[in-house]
Amino acid sequence: MSGIDRTLIAGPCVGGLSGTVVVPGDKSMSHRAVMLAALAEGVTEISGFLPGEDNLATARMFTDMGIDIDWLDAGKTRLRVHGTGLHGLKEPVNVLDAGNSGTCVRLMTGVLAGQPFHSVLVGDASLHKRPMQRVADPVRRMGAHVDGREGGNKLPLAIRGGGLKAIHHVSEVASAQVKSCVLLSGLFAEGTTRVSEPKPTRDHTERMLPLFGQPVAVTVDGTISLTPTDRLVAPREVVHIPADPSSAAFFAVAASLVPGSRLLLPGVGINERRDGWRRILAAMGAQLGTRDVASVGSEPVANIDVDYGELTAIRVDPADVPDAIDEFPVLFVAAALASGDFVLEGAEELRVKESDRIAAMVAALRSAGADINERPDGVRIRGVASLSGGIDVDAHGDHRIAMAMAVAAQRAEGDIRIHNAGAIATSFPDFVPMARAVGMRLHWEDGA
Ligand code: S3P
Repeated sequence: MSGIDRTLIAGPCVGGLSGTVVVPGDKSMSHRAVMLAALAEGVTEISGFLPGEDNLATARMFTDMGIDIDWLDAGKTRLRVHGTGLHGLKEPVNVLDAGNSGTCVRLMTGVLAGQPFHSVLVGDASLHKRPMQRVADPVRRMGAHVDGREGGNKLPLAIRGGGLKAIHHVSEVASAQVKSCVLLSGLFAEGTTRVSEPKPTRDHTERMLPLFGQPVAVTVDGTISLTPTDRLVAPREVVHIPADPSSAAFFAVAASLVPGSRLLLPGVGINERRDGWRRILAAMGAQLGTRDVASVGSEPVANIDVDYGELTAIRVDPADVPDAIDEFPVLFVAAALASGDFVLEGAEELRVKESDRIAAMVAALRSAGADINERPDGVRIRGVASLSGGIDVDAHGDHRIAMAMAVAAQRAEGDIRIHNAGAIATSFPDFVPMARAVGMRLHWEDGA
């Protein structure tokens, strides 16, 4: 069964979560690995790839432009990409479909801006509502022709690229997608491309490009610059992708909230720019242990232990917002059951994710009895002792709302029915069986 309108029935968990959860590969890095491999000369092998719908959409875009990809296992976590170099992509015959994925469409805008051919980017209903001016503007300034609905702010976007000149892009939004789009265009531009951002964001593109022979420099003020070497080269070593911290966070919060829990999350990415969720949970008193810190490719990883522990609310430091941007839905669940007042400000970007995540979480948690108030740029939450069950909530086709509410249900007094939850497959196709294996209570209503 697939389809975003599936209903997930979850909770409550009795006795706690226990065992080991090997969460799948990092979504952000999986996108970048396929993109750089396709643009490199030679064959790149990738392991730990996330076989979520978002990443498969990126892979499909490249096969639609003539790239051969061999899948090396049935689960689609290992692949070999036959790169054709920076100038080897072919004009696609059909529209390129990013599905639900903002990262796919925004980073591919950067790649396509460098191609001297016509391409059209489309996505699902949610992606067609999301802002694209933030990437259309800079690649236009570099010389690409981009058109779309609302003057190029909404999909479908039509792009005719090529002949780019480097720019210094001063981004108004703290967005790794915007930064990465511009850096990817910079691979095709004449001169040194620079990007400055209002707050530092995830730096996977900057860390991965050198593996393909393309240096990236960062100045003391945080400006990132790329002088194209005019070729990417497939790395000799396999590109390993670590476990996704954004997926690990659901289990860390669930184990923190359910008495009796003890979980091990091995090999999770702990890149500082993705680690806001651990800093926030630790500041709330969560029992998190970090050991066996190692490097996987150009990224730090660690084994993370989580034990049940009582949580206390905090005021989130606005500087931490980009570092936890994808984990706020499940952090709101932690806050809903912590003692005291949790305050988040400066997180208006949450309103333009796969759904309006502030409105969606406020509605869902409030119907479960949480004391939560909506702010234009965040929330205020006063913790309660437990959440109510026997209720229906709407995930709005957003994978992270669906999984966050499945975690909330583990501490509810009865079942929570989570509608429009099928988008879990975009980032974590095996979430339900893996969560069940460590003691969480949840199942798909359709039984699949
Ligand atoms: C991502 C960046 C973030 C994040 C998204 C993945 C990326 O978006 O929310 O899930 O891989 O670059 P923004 O950079 O637009 O905040």
